[in-house]
Amino acid sequence: MVVRQAIRWGIRHGLIRRAVGRRMAAGEQTAQLMLDPAINAEPWAAYDALRATGRLVDNGIVLNTAHHDVALACLRSPDMGVVGGPSGRTPAALRYAVAAGGRGPLGPVTPPSMLAVDAPDHTRYRKLVTRAFTARAVARLRTRTEEVAHGLLDAMTGPRADLIDDYAALLPATVIAEMLGAPVEMRRQFLEWGAGGALSLDAGLSWPDFRRSERDLAALESWMLGHFEHVRRNPGDNILSHLVHAHTEEGVLSTDELTSIAMLLLAAGFETTVNLIGNGTALLTAHPEQLALLREDPARWAGAVEEVLRHDSPVQRTGRIALRDTELAGERVRAGQAVVVMLGGANRDPAVFTDPARFDVTRANAGEHIAFSSGIHYCLGAALAKMEGEVGLRALFDRFPDLALDGPPHRRPTRVLRGYDAMPARLTRATVDA
Ligand code: HEM
Repeated sequence: MVVRQAIRWGIRHGLIRRAVGRRMAAGEQTAQLMLDPAINAEPWAAYDALRATGRLVDNGIVLNTAHHDVALACLRSPDMGVVGGPSGRTPAALRYAVAAGGRGPLGPVTPPSMLAVDAPDHTRYRKLVTRAFTARAVARLRTRTEEVAHGLLDAMTGPRADLIDDYAALLPATVIAEMLGAPVEMRRQFLEWGAGGALSLDAGLSWPDFRRSERDLAALESWMLGHFEHVRRNPGDNILSHLVHAHTEEGVLSTDELTSIAMLLLAAGFETTVNLIGNGTALLTAHPEQLALLREDPARWAGAVEEVLRHDSPVQRTGRIALRDTELAGERVRAGQAVVVMLGGANRDPAVFTDPARFDVTRANAGEHIAFSSGIHYCLGAALAKMEGEVGLRALFDRFPDLALDGPPHRRPTRVLRGYDAMPARLTRATVDA
């Protein structure tokens, strides 16, 4: 077992770590962006440097971009696919090694995950779940989301709280568990499995992180398979019941496909939105003049959420691979070349956003960010996340008008996901009573 796991780690992470480590030692900028924790914590100057170097920068392994127009062209191009499993182009030795490593637990970036497959499979999966996430469906969830937010705030009786643990994580975890028909009382367990699973989004993981991510993904997968039995016996009007029906009655999904979609929906439902609420809280406590603008006109909240998504994007990067020779916004890409799209860097591109480092809740074009990606993999949960962000942030600052952080919040160590895993705050007596 451990030998197969070590092979999987070697192929997916070990080789990358070695190649990138050498480049990092030589001071190469994209390698630093990948492996240097200090640069990862504040990547903005590195994005600017990358953008100044070129529109598509070849580091000898992949092409990289922090330009908004190139990023958008890449994500929307039918010539670019997702970086999934081995393809016909993968060298035979590597394909052999992948087979020797075995399947491993289902994860968010390996097939059959929706994020890791192209059409026609991607189209088939997406069709099954789109309806539950439309703007209309999400609008119907707003009142319930407000209730959940107020319930969590009622439980924060002060004088101190951890805004991630007590609020930002539990709000989206509760909402997605209810939508899916998963037990809400298990939400802390889901969050723990999700934190391990989220590590697997980063390429070049250390061996201990890889083992933790596989352990947590395996636990979630095993729980999910057991839960499907429960759902079969007790179907309801929820997403998992519909998916199980599509698998068992209509035969349109294999068991791995069903499990992978269910795991992705559950984990994506909270792993990213916690960062939107956490990053927004940090920004608004650090910029009281921006919070004052929201108090003056609450209609500005929707725009403020777009600005948080742009300024401190919860998902910082993604990748695509060229299916054939092509051109992206005038830049040539050869078949088989991989492109790393720095979503967080594109969202700070001064060609689109004036004075991009400035946090401005009234920014007119904040919504042009690509924090939810673009093209066929555009975030399924974008409308839900924006609604949760708006409800969550507004309820928090309405309840605790003098909210102040109790020391600096602690950043989560992940690279693809940008957010905090601890945010101590002081809820002063006056505000607790408010
Ligand atoms: C602020 C919160 C969120 C952010 C920033 C975010 C960001 C993203 C991004 C960037 C992608 C596409 C990655 C790529 O193109 O390679 C994506 C895809 C996806 N997101 Fe989100 N997301 C958020 C919340 C949610 C929520 C609440 C759900 C609910 C289940 C969700 C479900 C998904 C799914 C299923 C996909 C895969 C879509 C596909 O491949 O077709 N996301 N998200």
